[in-house]
Amino acid sequence: MPYVDQMVAKILILNGPNLNLLGLREPEIYGRETLDDIRAMLEGEARALKLAIDFRQTNSEGELVDWIQGARQGVAGLILNAGAYTHTSIAVLDALKALKLPIIEVHLSNVYRRESFRHVSYVSQAATGVIAGLGSNGYLLALQALARLIDRT
Ligand code: DQA
Repeated sequence: MPYVDQMVAKILILNGPNLNLLGLREPEIYGRETLDDIRAMLEGEARALKLAIDFRQTNSEGELVDWIQGARQGVAGLILNAGAYTHTSIAVLDALKALKLPIIEVHLSNVYRRESFRHVSYVSQAATGVIAGLGSNGYLLALQALARLIDRT
């Protein structure tokens, strides 16, 4: 049977500020893998799960809001590591609240073991689930969770 591409659900994976420096920035906290390494790992997993992924990073809060708004159409699920905007951005939260799809919030580090300002997450108020502290595995688990959540809906 031919592979029907239009049937493949798309998962949007958004990364916020400073995540472009992954592998170079505070490796003792964030690990030595780069964002490209994570993208490659997720592309492999997406193929196995028969999902398509759109993986992006921005340092700009406005661009992040635009991309979240864009997920209102043609996207089955969202994985979001909003970086520091997690703890500050009501604009990101409002954009997330306008979505009607499962949202998994991911953090490489365990934000609850770190400074108290990282214990507050605006993103969590709109997230279906939260994964923190498992490094790049968190993204993998989020993709697997979304595959199951989408299957049920
Ligand atoms: C982070 C945690 C945030 O507090 C921080 O600002 C980041 C990365 C993480 O993945 O652990 O930039 O989201």
